[in-house]
This record gives sequence, C-alpha cells and structure tokens, in this order.
Amino acid sequence: ASAKSLEICQLAPVVPVLIVNDVAHARPLAEALVAGGLPALEVTLRTPAALDVIREMAKVEGGVVGAGTLLTPQNVKDAVAAGAKFGVSPGLTDTLLTACEAADLPLLPGTATPSDVMKLLERGYTTMKFFPAETNGGAPALKNFSSPLAAAKFCPTGGISMKNVNDYLALPNVLCCGGSWVAPAALVEKGDWKAIEELAREAASLGR
Ligand code: 3PG
Repeated sequence: ASAKSLEICQLAPVVPVLIVNDVAHARPLAEALVAGGLPALEVTLRTPAALDVIREMAKVEGGVVGAGTLLTPQNVKDAVAAGAKFGVSPGLTDTLLTACEAADLPLLPGTATPSDVMKLLERGYTTMKFFPAETNGGAPALKNFSSPLAAAKFCPTGGISMKNVNDYLALPNVLCCGGSWVAPAALVEKGDWKAIEELAREAASLGR
C-alpha cells in the first residue's frame, strides 16, 4: 500500500483538497483539475454529498480520486464503496490503519511529530501527510525531519498556497503538497471551471 501511495504522490506537485457541497459540481470540477494537470484529487468526507461526489469524480478519465478526512473504519468502507482509490487522514490511529490495510486502500496518514513518523515507519509506511503543515512549523520544521527520519516522505497539507508552496517542494522529503487553494469555494459556487483549470495548470507547473 505504501508503494501505491508513493505513486499517487508522484503524479503531480499538488493534490487538490476538495470540500464539495453540490454533487452537480463534481464532474466539471474534477474535469477542470485533471485538464489543468492535477490528476490526484482528495475529496474530504466533510459534506453530506462527499460520497456521491467521489462516485461522480471516479468516472472522470485521467483522474485518481481519493477520500480525505478518514477518521473511522466506517469512513474507509464508505470511501472504498464509492470508488476512492486512496485515503487521507488528519492523523493516525491503529484502528484506522488496520481498516485501510484490510480494505487494501492506500492511505496517507497524518503526522505532526517525529513520534508519529516513527510509529508509521515501524508499521511499514514511508509515505505520509504532514498536518497541519503551517501551524506545525511549516517547511522549516519538515526540513528538520529529513535527516533523522530520512525514510519518510511527505505530502504537507494545511495552510499551503502559491505563496509558500515552493518552500515545501524544495525539500528533499517532500513528494507533493495538498491544498484547497486550487479550488476556491467562490469559484466552485460560480461554476468558473476555466479559472479553476488555470489555477490547476499553475500548480501543476511547479518544480519539485
Ligand atoms: C483541510 O484540512 O481542509 C486541508 O488541510 C486543506 O487545508 P487548506 O485549506 O489550508 O489548504
């Protein structure tokens, strides 16, 4: 599963984090992001529509749709049933890791401390999320993980935008960054898919 999550993190420099309220937005939103060059999409399970959104987005050619905000084994079951190809979690619990392993769902578990990272390395995970990135010390903190915890590679998420994304992508232990800035709620509500495609294109062209 760790090899799979590594693959997903290597698809593009940015993984859009999506909070979608209206299932009618799912297809055009995913199409715009994929067209802009961001195939891996994280749909957070934070709206009543989220599972239907995953179902719709999973039909978009070229997209790899995952479920975010996985907290419980039931979330994992629901995500897999909806067609999620990977999972993302704000943290890590044995219960959640076991559920994802049983479902064969590649997971990006959230870490914030060296102890979190060590727990995951012990369990065979080398690809993980750093969350919430900016408030946990940002790129300078994650840089300090790279030497003592060299095997761990990250998708930092939380508080990242075009203003600071390059600070993260320049680090040797960063694979990609997660963020909601490529799909701002105002543009989604307006259905401005062209503008979102442009934001995706800008993010997809970032160097790693
Ligand atoms: C979230 O929790 O919504 C994600 O971490 C995205 O954070 P962001 O909105 O700061 O990019």
